[in-house]
Amino acid sequence: MIIARTVAEVRAELRPLRLAGRRIGFVPTMGALHEGHLSLVRAARQACDYVVVSIFVNPLQFGPREDFHTYPRDEPADLAVAGQHRVDMVFSPSVDEMYPDRSTTTVAVGTIGDVLEGEVRPGHFAGVVTVVAKLFNIVEPQVAFFGRKDAQQVAVVRRMVTDLSFDVEIVTCPTVRAPDGLALSSRNSYLSREERTRAAVIQRALGAGERVLRTAGSREEAEKRMWDVLISEEGVDPDYAAAVDPSSFGPPGPHGPILLAVAGRVGPTRLIDNVLVEVPEER
Ligand code: PAF
Repeated sequence: MIIARTVAEVRAELRPLRLAGRRIGFVPTMGALHEGHLSLVRAARQACDYVVVSIFVNPLQFGPREDFHTYPRDEPADLAVAGQHRVDMVFSPSVDEMYPDRSTTTVAVGTIGDVLEGEVRPGHFAGVVTVVAKLFNIVEPQVAFFGRKDAQQVAVVRRMVTDLSFDVEIVTCPTVRAPDGLALSSRNSYLSREERTRAAVIQRALGAGERVLRTAGSREEAEKRMWDVLISEEGVDPDYAAAVDPSSFGPPGPHGPILLAVAGRVGPTRLIDNVLVEVPEER
């Protein structure tokens, strides 16, 4: 497995492969690799000839009071896991390599990045799409793999790919869950045992919202039900409970699936999760 630290190293390795017609699959990550990331690596391994994983804790997507400095980092463990999963290249650059000379150009996201996560975390999605655009330009993959747990991130990245004409296919993989139902996230390591038990309310809220939609309840009723379940749990501080169109993150139309998305703090840890509900045609 190649460990590349610079943009030049990545380009030197990948250019001949691309010219030889090899299909390059890319899994962008911030490290602290868990089964969720590994499901993306497996999908990439299956669909592509060469698999690149990036490990970069991107300062641009963290707010001033967020956990950039304490975000879990364990590069030796990540490299070992990547090697075991037959990753061909890990790109693990420094902040200076990614943002030389304090770069000033960023990608603006538009209204899809202003709601839900974007409203709670101003500037977050501009930081995400800026780094993803840079990584796409460096790796030039034919296919990139993202997890559905970060549903709004997927929608924002898809929008950027369309709007800026990136020649990359976006593949999404299902959310991987722990046996207790909690969606895997690098931030789960912050949870105490007691907080983890309380975090089960996230799944209960989504389940309650789904039942409302399946029994012909309205979007507003589903949102209210999810919110009520979230606030019923002591020590949980919800940010939002929303029923949206999965592509635009605006109000859902009369047809097609509805995405239920919730976010909130369990103690000091912020968790997000979602479920896509195929509702009956008539609603
Ligand atoms: O989902 C993540 O881990 C990050 O947002 C990403 C896509 C690697 C960009 O930094």
